[in-house]
Amino acid sequence: MYKIIDGKAIREYNLEKISEQVEELKANGILPTLAVIIVGNDPASRIYVNNKKAACERTGMRSLEYALPEETTTEELLELIDKLNADKSVNGILCQLPVPKHINKNLVLERILPEKDVDCFHPENVGRLCIGNGELVPCTPMGMVKMLEYEDIDPTGKHCVIIGRSDIVGKPMAMLMLARNATVTICHSKTQNLAEITKQADILVAAVGIAKFVKEDMVKDGAIVLDVGMDRDENGKLCGDVDFENVKDKTSMITPVPGGVGPMTIAMLMRNTLTAAKIQNK
Ligand code: GUN
Repeated sequence: MYKIIDGKAIREYNLEKISEQVEELKANGILPTLAVIIVGNDPASRIYVNNKKAACERTGMRSLEYALPEETTTEELLELIDKLNADKSVNGILCQLPVPKHINKNLVLERILPEKDVDCFHPENVGRLCIGNGELVPCTPMGMVKMLEYEDIDPTGKHCVIIGRSDIVGKPMAMLMLARNATVTICHSKTQNLAEITKQADILVAAVGIAKFVKEDMVKDGAIVLDVGMDRDENGKLCGDVDFENVKDKTSMITPVPGGVGPMTIAMLMRNTLTAAKIQNK
């Protein structure tokens, strides 16, 4: 019998704790503030940005939105970031991705001050993550760590297999799991005998971006399966990277899509904004 890991309930639990800490900071005259930049008219990005603003409201933080036109140049974007970097009332800065192709993404992400980098994309923060002394942590991977903590799962000694090597999910998840004493394997599109490796996983993280990619013959009996996917199935319905209906009975715990890992990402963004406000007001 498997258990569904309820991302919405765990998000609420985390947001509640964050709200309490926001209240404490406010009582000391500090109003945690997140500035969100969105360039262009990508509809999915608009939804994500709206959700981020709603989460700020929900936790009592202030949010600022900078919606810039598609034609914005790298220089103009850097100017805005410089202004927000210098503004002491702004604790966190997030530039919603993807940005239009003509913008130099790396230049933009590296311009955000490390202490305001609530995405944990700046090379300095990525480095800190690797040596285990980072205070700002990558949101989606940290969301999965919080799910494991909530379910009382200690990664120590467990084999965590991650499918996907992205800078946003796969690589940072490997660092977080290593820091929690898991044995970690990262697989990707060039991995040979993938199923043989994924079948060894005590904790299997699917972050490939292909609908229902993980099938039952790729999963060990009793594994914990975390699904980062946000895909569309053959009928256009939202689904994950895991073939949930066929895989679930093999697992001990599994995250659904929707309602699994997704809701945790924004909760961790709120956590990072709170942390940034604390760091800057030490
Ligand atoms: N677009 C999709 N996911 C993310 C994220 O985690 N951070 C930012 N800044 N943009 C995104």
